[in-house]
Amino acid sequence: MTHHAKPLGAVHWRHAAPIFRHPYRGYERLHARFGPTVAIDRPGRKPLIFTMDEELAARLLTTHQDALVRPQNIVTGIFRNLVGDGIVSAEGEQWEGRRRRGNQRIRGATLEDDQVELLRVCLGELRDDIRGLAGRGLVDLLPAIERFTLSASIRLVCGVTLDRGPEFESIYEAVQKVMFGTQRIADVRRQMFLYSVLPRSRRLVDGPQRRAIKPSFDRLAAFEPDSEARELLIATYENPSTALSWTLSLLGARPAELAKIRAEVEALDIVDNPDLAISDIESLSRTGAAIRETLRLRPPIAYLSRRVIEDIEVDDLLIERGSHVLVVPYCLHHNPERWPEPDRYMPERFVDDSLGLRGGRLWSFGVGARACPGTRLALQLATAALAVIAREVRWTQPAGRAPAVPTGRFPWNEKSPCWQTLTLDPVAAEPQVA
Ligand code: HEM
Repeated sequence: MTHHAKPLGAVHWRHAAPIFRHPYRGYERLHARFGPTVAIDRPGRKPLIFTMDEELAARLLTTHQDALVRPQNIVTGIFRNLVGDGIVSAEGEQWEGRRRRGNQRIRGATLEDDQVELLRVCLGELRDDIRGLAGRGLVDLLPAIERFTLSASIRLVCGVTLDRGPEFESIYEAVQKVMFGTQRIADVRRQMFLYSVLPRSRRLVDGPQRRAIKPSFDRLAAFEPDSEARELLIATYENPSTALSWTLSLLGARPAELAKIRAEVEALDIVDNPDLAISDIESLSRTGAAIRETLRLRPPIAYLSRRVIEDIEVDDLLIERGSHVLVVPYCLHHNPERWPEPDRYMPERFVDDSLGLRGGRLWSFGVGARACPGTRLALQLATAALAVIAREVRWTQPAGRAPAVPTGRFPWNEKSPCWQTLTLDPVAAEPQVA
Protein backbone atom coordinates (compact mmCIF):
# COMPACT_ATOMS: atom_id res chain seq x y z
CA MET A 1 0.00 0.00 0.00
CA THR A 2 1.34 3.43 -0.87
CA HIS A 3 1.72 5.77 2.06
CA HIS A 4 -0.11 8.75 0.65
CA ALA A 5 -3.53 7.13 0.19
CA LYS A 6 -5.93 8.53 2.79
CA PRO A 7 -9.55 7.85 3.67
CA LEU A 8 -12.01 10.52 2.69
CA GLY A 9 -12.96 12.80 5.60
CA ALA A 10 -16.35 11.55 6.77
CA VAL A 11 -19.19 14.00 7.37
CA HIS A 12 -21.53 13.65 10.35
CA TRP A 13 -24.45 11.30 9.71
CA ARG A 14 -26.98 14.06 10.40
CA HIS A 15 -26.08 15.46 6.97
CA ALA A 16 -27.71 12.36 5.53
CA ALA A 17 -31.07 13.19 7.13
CA PRO A 18 -32.64 14.61 3.92
CA ILE A 19 -32.18 11.16 2.41
CA PHE A 20 -34.94 9.80 4.63
CA ARG A 21 -37.53 12.15 3.25
CA HIS A 22 -36.65 12.08 -0.42
CA PRO A 23 -33.58 9.94 -1.13
CA TYR A 24 -32.84 11.13 -4.67
CA ARG A 25 -33.09 14.79 -3.72
CA GLY A 26 -31.16 14.09 -0.54
CA TYR A 27 -28.24 12.56 -2.45
CA GLU A 28 -28.23 15.49 -4.83
CA ARG A 29 -28.03 17.91 -1.93
CA LEU A 30 -25.22 15.93 -0.33
CA HIS A 31 -23.21 15.98 -3.54
CA ALA A 32 -23.92 19.68 -4.13
CA ARG A 33 -22.60 20.43 -0.68
CA PHE A 34 -19.73 17.99 -0.24
CA GLY A 35 -18.64 17.09 -3.76
CA PRO A 36 -19.04 14.06 -6.02
CA THR A 37 -17.82 11.55 -3.44
CA VAL A 38 -19.09 11.80 0.12
CA ALA A 39 -18.29 9.60 3.11
CA ILE A 40 -20.89 9.52 5.89
CA ASP A 41 -19.76 8.66 9.36
CA ARG A 42 -21.43 5.61 10.91
CA PRO A 43 -20.71 5.50 14.64
CA GLY A 44 -18.65 2.43 15.47
CA ARG A 45 -18.40 1.35 11.85
CA LYS A 46 -16.55 2.31 8.71
CA PRO A 47 -18.29 4.98 6.65
CA LEU A 48 -20.95 4.80 4.03
CA ILE A 49 -19.57 6.22 0.78
CA PHE A 50 -21.78 7.73 -1.90
CA THR A 51 -20.22 8.57 -5.19
CA MET A 52 -21.45 10.16 -8.36
CA ASP A 53 -17.92 10.31 -9.74
CA GLU A 54 -18.45 8.04 -12.74
CA GLU A 55 -14.82 7.19 -13.14
CA LEU A 56 -14.42 6.23 -9.50
CA ALA A 57 -17.67 4.23 -9.55
CA ALA A 58 -16.60 2.38 -12.70
CA ARG A 59 -13.16 1.61 -11.30
CA LEU A 60 -14.61 0.30 -8.06
CA LEU A 61 -17.14 -1.94 -9.79
CA THR A 62 -14.70 -3.28 -12.40
CA THR A 63 -11.00 -3.07 -11.43
CA HIS A 64 -11.72 -3.51 -7.72
CA GLN A 65 -14.73 -5.78 -7.95
CA ASP A 66 -12.95 -8.59 -6.08
CA ALA A 67 -12.70 -6.36 -3.02
CA LEU A 68 -16.48 -5.84 -3.00
CA VAL A 69 -19.47 -8.02 -2.23
CA ARG A 70 -23.19 -7.42 -2.37
CA PRO A 71 -24.26 -6.64 1.17
CA GLN A 72 -26.52 -9.17 2.78
CA ASN A 73 -29.17 -6.89 4.17
CA ILE A 74 -32.78 -7.34 4.97
CA VAL A 75 -33.88 -6.98 1.37
CA THR A 76 -31.50 -9.59 -0.02
CA GLY A 77 -32.34 -11.74 3.03
CA ILE A 78 -36.06 -11.65 2.33
CA PHE A 79 -35.62 -12.21 -1.36
CA ARG A 80 -33.38 -15.18 -0.74
CA ASN A 81 -35.69 -16.59 1.83
CA LEU A 82 -38.64 -16.34 -0.50
CA VAL A 83 -37.19 -17.06 -3.88
CA GLY A 84 -34.26 -19.24 -2.90
CA ASP A 85 -30.61 -19.21 -3.85
CA GLY A 86 -29.62 -17.82 -7.18
CA ILE A 87 -27.04 -15.57 -8.84
CA VAL A 88 -27.88 -12.39 -6.95
CA SER A 89 -26.98 -13.59 -3.46
CA ALA A 90 -23.93 -15.70 -4.37
CA GLU A 91 -20.24 -14.77 -4.23
CA GLY A 92 -16.98 -16.35 -5.39
CA GLU A 93 -16.94 -19.75 -7.07
CA GLN A 94 -20.56 -20.41 -6.25
CA TRP A 95 -21.49 -17.21 -8.06
CA GLU A 96 -19.36 -18.15 -11.09
CA GLY A 97 -21.15 -21.49 -11.45
CA ARG A 98 -24.59 -20.00 -11.06
CA ARG A 99 -23.89 -17.13 -13.41
CA ARG A 100 -22.62 -19.57 -16.06
CA ARG A 101 -25.71 -21.76 -15.70
CA GLY A 102 -27.94 -18.68 -15.77
CA ASN A 103 -26.32 -17.45 -18.97
CA GLN A 104 -26.88 -20.83 -20.58
CA ARG A 105 -30.50 -20.77 -19.55
CA ILE A 106 -31.10 -17.37 -21.08
CA ARG A 107 -28.66 -18.19 -23.88
CA GLY A 108 -26.34 -15.28 -23.28
CA ALA A 109 -29.41 -13.12 -22.79
CA THR A 110 -29.97 -12.35 -26.41
CA LEU A 111 -32.90 -13.93 -28.12
CA GLU A 112 -31.98 -16.18 -30.97
CA ASP A 113 -34.17 -16.39 -33.99
CA ASP A 114 -35.74 -19.70 -32.91
CA GLN A 115 -36.95 -17.98 -29.73
CA VAL A 116 -38.57 -15.19 -31.71
CA GLU A 117 -41.46 -17.55 -32.40
CA LEU A 118 -42.10 -17.79 -28.64
CA LEU A 119 -41.78 -14.05 -28.29
CA ARG A 120 -44.33 -13.53 -31.05
CA VAL A 121 -46.84 -15.65 -29.14
CA CYS A 122 -46.45 -13.44 -26.05
CA LEU A 123 -46.66 -10.31 -28.17
CA GLY A 124 -49.85 -11.65 -29.77
CA GLU A 125 -51.37 -12.04 -26.28
CA LEU A 126 -50.27 -8.49 -25.44
CA ARG A 127 -51.87 -7.17 -28.62
CA ASP A 128 -55.15 -8.90 -27.77
CA ASP A 129 -55.08 -7.44 -24.27
CA ILE A 130 -54.43 -3.95 -25.62
CA ARG A 131 -57.16 -4.28 -28.24
CA GLY A 132 -59.53 -5.33 -25.47
CA LEU A 133 -58.74 -2.15 -23.55
CA ALA A 134 -58.88 0.30 -26.44
CA GLY A 135 -61.86 2.59 -26.73
CA ARG A 136 -62.78 2.16 -23.07
CA GLY A 137 -61.39 5.55 -22.10
CA LEU A 138 -59.14 5.68 -19.08
CA VAL A 139 -57.59 2.25 -18.47
CA ASP A 140 -54.76 0.79 -16.44
CA LEU A 141 -52.11 -0.59 -18.78
CA LEU A 142 -49.95 -2.17 -16.09
CA PRO A 143 -51.68 -5.56 -15.89
CA ALA A 144 -51.30 -6.03 -19.66
CA ILE A 145 -47.62 -5.18 -19.49
CA GLU A 146 -47.01 -7.43 -16.51
CA ARG A 147 -48.82 -10.35 -18.09
CA PHE A 148 -46.63 -9.90 -21.17
CA THR A 149 -43.33 -9.96 -19.27
CA LEU A 150 -44.55 -12.88 -17.17
CA SER A 151 -45.59 -14.85 -20.23
CA ALA A 152 -42.22 -14.09 -21.86
CA SER A 153 -40.29 -15.23 -18.80
CA ILE A 154 -42.33 -18.43 -18.47
CA ARG A 155 -41.70 -19.33 -22.11
CA LEU A 156 -38.17 -18.01 -22.61
CA VAL A 157 -36.60 -18.50 -19.18
CA CYS A 158 -38.46 -21.52 -17.76
CA GLY A 159 -38.93 -23.08 -21.19
CA VAL A 160 -42.55 -23.92 -20.35
CA THR A 161 -45.58 -23.49 -22.60
CA LEU A 162 -48.32 -21.97 -20.53
CA ASP A 163 -51.16 -20.34 -22.40
CA ARG A 164 -53.45 -17.79 -20.81
CA GLY A 165 -55.94 -19.35 -18.46
CA PRO A 166 -56.51 -20.08 -14.76
CA GLU A 167 -53.03 -21.54 -14.17
CA PHE A 168 -51.35 -18.54 -15.79
CA GLU A 169 -53.48 -16.20 -13.68
CA SER A 170 -52.58 -18.05 -10.50
CA ILE A 171 -48.86 -17.70 -11.28
CA TYR A 172 -49.39 -14.00 -12.09
CA GLU A 173 -51.05 -13.51 -8.73
CA ALA A 174 -48.24 -15.41 -7.01
CA VAL A 175 -45.39 -13.34 -8.49
CA GLN A 176 -47.24 -10.12 -7.73
CA LYS A 177 -47.71 -11.16 -4.12
CA VAL A 178 -44.13 -12.29 -3.71
CA MET A 179 -42.82 -8.98 -5.06
CA PHE A 180 -45.31 -6.88 -3.13
CA GLY A 181 -44.85 -8.92 0.04
CA THR A 182 -41.09 -8.60 -0.16
CA GLN A 183 -41.40 -4.85 -0.40
CA ARG A 184 -43.88 -4.73 2.46
CA ILE A 185 -41.61 -6.64 4.81
CA ALA A 186 -38.60 -4.65 3.74
CA ASP A 187 -40.55 -1.45 4.24
CA VAL A 188 -40.20 -2.01 7.97
CA ARG A 189 -36.65 -0.77 7.64
CA ARG A 190 -37.26 2.03 5.28
CA GLN A 191 -34.06 3.35 3.85
CA MET A 192 -30.81 2.03 2.54
CA PHE A 193 -29.02 4.22 5.07
CA LEU A 194 -30.92 2.63 7.92
CA TYR A 195 -30.05 -0.85 6.70
CA SER A 196 -26.41 -0.10 6.98
CA VAL A 197 -26.71 1.49 10.43
CA LEU A 198 -29.15 -0.77 12.26
CA PRO A 199 -28.43 -4.38 13.17
CA ARG A 200 -29.79 -7.06 10.89
CA SER A 201 -32.88 -8.89 11.90
CA ARG A 202 -33.71 -12.42 10.84
CA ARG A 203 -36.88 -12.21 12.86
CA LEU A 204 -38.46 -9.85 10.37
CA VAL A 205 -37.46 -12.05 7.51
CA ASP A 206 -39.17 -15.04 9.05
CA GLY A 207 -41.97 -13.20 10.76
CA PRO A 208 -45.72 -13.20 10.23
CA GLN A 209 -45.51 -11.20 7.03
CA ARG A 210 -43.44 -13.90 5.44
CA ARG A 211 -46.01 -16.47 6.48
CA ALA A 212 -48.68 -14.33 4.87
CA ILE A 213 -47.06 -14.59 1.45
CA LYS A 214 -45.83 -18.13 1.84
CA PRO A 215 -48.76 -19.72 -0.06
CA SER A 216 -47.91 -17.53 -3.09
CA PHE A 217 -44.31 -18.46 -2.80
CA ASP A 218 -45.16 -22.16 -2.54
CA ARG A 219 -47.25 -21.89 -5.68
CA LEU A 220 -44.32 -20.32 -7.49
CA ALA A 221 -41.94 -22.95 -6.17
CA ALA A 222 -44.25 -25.72 -7.32
CA PHE A 223 -44.37 -24.15 -10.78
CA GLU A 224 -40.60 -23.65 -11.05
CA PRO A 225 -38.76 -25.86 -8.54
CA ASP A 226 -35.27 -24.68 -9.55
CA SER A 227 -34.44 -21.63 -7.42
CA GLU A 228 -31.92 -20.30 -9.93
CA ALA A 229 -34.54 -20.36 -12.68
CA ARG A 230 -37.08 -18.85 -10.31
CA GLU A 231 -34.81 -15.88 -9.73
CA LEU A 232 -34.46 -15.31 -13.47
CA LEU A 233 -38.21 -15.75 -13.90
CA ILE A 234 -38.85 -12.98 -11.38
CA ALA A 235 -36.11 -10.72 -12.81
CA THR A 236 -37.55 -11.04 -16.30
CA TYR A 237 -41.08 -10.44 -15.07
CA GLU A 238 -40.30 -7.50 -12.82
CA ASN A 239 -37.72 -5.13 -14.23
CA PRO A 240 -38.77 -5.03 -17.89
CA SER A 241 -42.38 -4.36 -16.82
CA THR A 242 -41.17 -1.53 -14.58
CA ALA A 243 -39.27 -0.01 -17.51
CA LEU A 244 -42.29 -0.38 -19.79
CA SER A 245 -44.67 1.19 -17.28
CA TRP A 246 -42.51 4.31 -17.08
CA THR A 247 -42.07 4.43 -20.85
CA LEU A 248 -45.82 4.35 -21.46
CA SER A 249 -46.41 7.10 -18.88
CA LEU A 250 -43.66 9.31 -20.25
CA LEU A 251 -44.86 8.86 -23.82
CA GLY A 252 -48.47 9.46 -22.77
CA ALA A 253 -47.42 12.98 -21.85
CA ARG A 254 -45.46 13.48 -25.10
CA PRO A 255 -47.61 12.86 -28.16
CA ALA A 256 -44.87 14.13 -30.52
CA GLU A 257 -42.45 11.45 -29.30
CA LEU A 258 -45.13 8.81 -29.55
CA ALA A 259 -45.87 9.88 -33.13
CA LYS A 260 -42.22 9.30 -34.08
CA ILE A 261 -42.36 5.79 -32.68
CA ARG A 262 -45.62 5.10 -34.46
CA ALA A 263 -44.10 6.23 -37.74
CA GLU A 264 -41.25 3.80 -37.22
CA VAL A 265 -43.32 0.76 -36.26
CA GLU A 266 -46.15 1.19 -38.73
CA ALA A 267 -44.40 -0.87 -41.39
CA LEU A 268 -43.27 -3.66 -39.10
CA ASP A 269 -45.81 -6.36 -38.38
CA ILE A 270 -44.24 -8.18 -35.47
CA VAL A 271 -47.06 -10.43 -34.35
CA ASP A 272 -48.25 -11.86 -37.64
CA ASN A 273 -44.94 -12.05 -39.44
CA PRO A 274 -43.52 -15.61 -39.40
CA ASP A 275 -40.26 -14.35 -40.95
CA LEU A 276 -39.58 -11.89 -38.17
CA ALA A 277 -35.94 -11.87 -37.04
CA ILE A 278 -34.56 -10.47 -33.82
CA SER A 279 -32.60 -7.96 -35.93
CA ASP A 280 -35.94 -6.47 -37.06
CA ILE A 281 -36.66 -5.57 -33.45
CA GLU A 282 -33.14 -4.31 -32.82
CA SER A 283 -33.34 -2.06 -35.87
CA LEU A 284 -36.23 -0.06 -34.35
CA SER A 285 -33.97 2.78 -33.31
CA ARG A 286 -36.65 5.28 -32.19
CA THR A 287 -38.52 2.66 -30.21
CA GLY A 288 -35.36 1.30 -28.61
CA ALA A 289 -34.21 4.84 -27.84
CA ALA A 290 -37.47 5.56 -25.99
CA ILE A 291 -36.83 2.55 -23.75
CA ARG A 292 -33.22 3.49 -23.07
CA GLU A 293 -34.10 7.09 -22.31
CA THR A 294 -36.67 5.79 -19.80
CA LEU A 295 -33.97 3.66 -18.21
CA ARG A 296 -31.84 6.79 -17.86
CA LEU A 297 -34.57 8.95 -16.38
CA ARG A 298 -36.28 6.25 -14.31
CA PRO A 299 -33.71 3.53 -13.53
CA PRO A 300 -35.71 0.53 -12.21
CA ILE A 301 -32.91 -0.59 -9.88
CA ALA A 302 -32.32 2.37 -7.60
CA TYR A 303 -29.03 1.38 -5.97
CA LEU A 304 -25.79 -0.42 -6.74
CA SER A 305 -24.71 -1.30 -3.26
CA ARG A 306 -21.48 -2.98 -2.09
CA ARG A 307 -19.70 -3.92 1.11
CA VAL A 308 -15.94 -3.46 1.00
CA ILE A 309 -14.10 -6.63 2.13
CA GLU A 310 -10.51 -5.50 1.49
CA ASP A 311 -8.88 -2.07 1.64
CA ILE A 312 -9.01 -0.41 -1.77
CA GLU A 313 -6.71 2.30 -3.03
CA VAL A 314 -7.83 4.44 -5.92
CA ASP A 315 -5.22 7.07 -6.71
CA ASP A 316 -4.73 8.77 -3.36
CA LEU A 317 -8.04 7.68 -1.91
CA LEU A 318 -8.21 4.82 0.58
CA ILE A 319 -11.52 3.02 0.91
CA GLU A 320 -11.28 0.93 4.02
CA ARG A 321 -12.46 -2.60 4.57
CA GLY A 322 -15.87 -2.53 6.22
CA SER A 323 -17.01 0.60 4.37
CA HIS A 324 -20.15 0.51 2.33
CA VAL A 325 -20.22 1.95 -1.19
CA LEU A 326 -23.41 3.18 -2.81
CA VAL A 327 -23.78 4.21 -6.43
CA VAL A 328 -27.10 5.79 -7.35
CA PRO A 329 -27.80 5.54 -11.11
CA TYR A 330 -30.50 8.22 -10.87
CA CYS A 331 -27.92 10.78 -9.67
CA LEU A 332 -25.35 9.79 -12.29
CA HIS A 333 -28.05 10.13 -14.95
CA HIS A 334 -28.92 13.62 -13.77
CA ASN A 335 -25.47 15.09 -14.12
CA PRO A 336 -26.02 18.06 -16.47
CA GLU A 337 -22.45 17.89 -17.76
CA ARG A 338 -23.07 14.39 -19.02
CA TRP A 339 -26.71 14.77 -19.95
CA PRO A 340 -27.80 18.27 -21.00
CA GLU A 341 -31.29 19.08 -19.67
CA PRO A 342 -31.19 15.94 -17.54
CA ASP A 343 -34.84 16.13 -16.43
CA ARG A 344 -36.20 16.13 -19.96
CA TYR A 345 -37.33 12.93 -21.60
CA MET A 346 -35.37 13.09 -24.88
CA PRO A 347 -35.16 9.71 -26.61
CA GLU A 348 -33.10 11.26 -29.43
CA ARG A 349 -30.11 11.05 -27.10
CA PHE A 350 -30.03 7.36 -27.87
CA VAL A 351 -31.21 7.19 -31.45
CA ASP A 352 -27.78 6.61 -32.97
CA ASP A 353 -27.00 3.92 -30.48
CA SER A 354 -29.04 0.93 -31.66
CA LEU A 355 -29.36 -1.33 -28.60
CA GLY A 356 -25.91 -0.40 -27.33
CA LEU A 357 -25.41 1.36 -24.07
CA ARG A 358 -23.74 4.55 -25.19
CA GLY A 359 -20.17 3.91 -24.22
CA GLY A 360 -21.04 2.67 -20.75
CA ARG A 361 -22.75 5.90 -19.72
CA LEU A 362 -26.03 4.25 -18.86
CA TRP A 363 -25.81 2.84 -15.33
CA SER A 364 -29.23 1.21 -15.24
CA PHE A 365 -27.86 -2.31 -15.70
CA GLY A 366 -24.81 -1.85 -13.46
CA VAL A 367 -21.22 -2.34 -14.59
CA GLY A 368 -18.51 -4.93 -14.10
CA ALA A 369 -18.80 -8.66 -13.54
CA ARG A 370 -21.97 -8.28 -11.47
CA ALA A 371 -23.75 -6.20 -14.09
CA CYS A 372 -27.08 -7.45 -15.32
CA PRO A 373 -26.86 -10.60 -17.43
CA GLY A 374 -30.35 -9.88 -18.80
CA THR A 375 -29.55 -6.50 -20.37
CA ARG A 376 -30.10 -7.38 -23.99
CA LEU A 377 -33.01 -9.66 -23.26
CA ALA A 378 -34.67 -6.86 -21.29
CA LEU A 379 -34.11 -4.32 -24.07
CA GLN A 380 -35.41 -6.70 -26.70
CA LEU A 381 -38.56 -7.55 -24.72
CA ALA A 382 -39.33 -3.94 -23.88
CA THR A 383 -38.62 -2.65 -27.39
CA ALA A 384 -40.81 -5.32 -29.00
CA ALA A 385 -43.66 -4.70 -26.56
CA LEU A 386 -43.56 -0.95 -27.09
CA ALA A 387 -43.54 -1.47 -30.85
CA VAL A 388 -46.63 -3.70 -30.69
CA ILE A 389 -48.54 -1.33 -28.42
CA ALA A 390 -47.61 1.79 -30.43
CA ARG A 391 -48.71 0.16 -33.67
CA GLU A 392 -52.08 -0.69 -32.20
CA VAL A 393 -53.19 2.29 -30.13
CA ARG A 394 -52.51 5.87 -29.18
CA TRP A 395 -52.50 6.81 -25.54
CA THR A 396 -52.54 10.03 -23.60
CA GLN A 397 -51.92 10.95 -20.03
CA PRO A 398 -55.19 11.97 -18.34
CA ALA A 399 -55.53 15.77 -18.38
CA GLY A 400 -54.10 17.57 -15.40
CA ARG A 401 -51.99 14.62 -14.28
CA ALA A 402 -48.24 15.00 -14.66
CA PRO A 403 -46.14 11.84 -15.05
CA ALA A 404 -45.03 10.47 -11.68
CA VAL A 405 -41.46 11.11 -10.56
CA PRO A 406 -39.52 8.49 -8.59
CA THR A 407 -38.15 9.40 -5.18
CA GLY A 408 -35.78 6.52 -4.47
CA ARG A 409 -37.93 5.43 -1.53
CA PHE A 410 -39.60 2.09 -1.20
CA PRO A 411 -40.71 0.37 -3.24
CA TRP A 412 -37.37 0.58 -4.93
CA ASN A 413 -38.73 -1.06 -8.00
CA GLU A 414 -41.51 1.50 -8.11
CA LYS A 415 -43.63 1.13 -11.23
CA SER A 416 -45.32 4.09 -12.81
CA PRO A 417 -49.03 4.50 -12.26
CA CYS A 418 -50.03 3.54 -15.74
CA TRP A 419 -53.54 4.95 -16.20
CA GLN A 420 -53.83 6.19 -19.74
CA THR A 421 -56.59 7.08 -22.15
CA LEU A 422 -56.36 4.66 -25.04
CA THR A 423 -57.61 5.28 -28.54
CA LEU A 424 -57.66 2.53 -31.11
CA ASP A 425 -55.33 3.50 -33.89
CA PRO A 426 -57.24 3.97 -37.18
CA VAL A 427 -54.38 2.51 -39.24
CA ALA A 428 -54.23 -0.69 -37.21
CA ALA A 429 -58.00 -0.86 -37.01
CA GLU A 430 -58.59 -0.73 -40.77
CA PRO A 431 -57.60 -4.31 -41.66
CA GLN A 432 -59.99 -5.58 -38.99
CA VAL A 433 -62.84 -3.71 -40.60
CA ALA A 434 -61.94 -4.83 -44.13
C1 HEM B 1 -35.02 -3.31 -17.57
C2 HEM B 1 -34.70 -4.44 -17.03
C3 HEM B 1 -33.57 -4.70 -16.06
C4 HEM B 1 -32.84 -3.81 -15.31
C5 HEM B 1 -32.95 -2.30 -15.25
C6 HEM B 1 -31.88 -4.60 -14.56
C7 HEM B 1 -30.93 -4.05 -13.71
C8 HEM B 1 -29.96 -4.78 -13.05
C9 HEM B 1 -28.87 -4.21 -12.28
C10 HEM B 1 -28.63 -2.73 -12.05
C11 HEM B 1 -28.14 -5.23 -11.80
C12 HEM B 1 -26.84 -5.13 -11.02
C13 HEM B 1 -27.04 -4.76 -9.59
C14 HEM B 1 -25.72 -4.59 -8.88
O1 HEM B 1 -24.71 -4.23 -9.48
O2 HEM B 1 -25.72 -4.82 -7.67
C15 HEM B 1 -28.77 -6.46 -12.23
C16 HEM B 1 -28.33 -7.71 -11.90
C17 HEM B 1 -28.97 -8.86 -12.29
N1 HEM B 1 -30.02 -8.98 -13.20
FE1 HEM B 1 -30.97 -7.46 -14.09
N2 HEM B 1 -32.06 -5.91 -14.86
C18 HEM B 1 -33.06 -6.02 -15.78
C19 HEM B 1 -33.51 -7.18 -16.37
C20 HEM B 1 -33.08 -8.44 -16.08
C21 HEM B 1 -33.52 -9.64 -16.73
C22 HEM B 1 -34.47 -9.72 -17.91
C23 HEM B 1 -32.89 -10.67 -16.10
C24 HEM B 1 -33.03 -12.14 -16.41
C25 HEM B 1 -32.40 -12.72 -17.33
C26 HEM B 1 -32.04 -10.11 -15.06
C27 HEM B 1 -31.27 -10.84 -14.18
C28 HEM B 1 -30.33 -10.30 -13.34
C29 HEM B 1 -29.47 -11.10 -12.47
C30 HEM B 1 -29.49 -12.61 -12.33
C31 HEM B 1 -28.60 -10.20 -11.82
C32 HEM B 1 -27.49 -10.53 -10.82
C33 HEM B 1 -26.18 -10.61 -11.55
C34 HEM B 1 -25.01 -11.02 -10.70
O3 HEM B 1 -25.05 -10.86 -9.49
O4 HEM B 1 -24.03 -11.51 -11.26
N3 HEM B 1 -32.20 -8.76 -15.08
N4 HEM B 1 -29.87 -6.16 -13.01
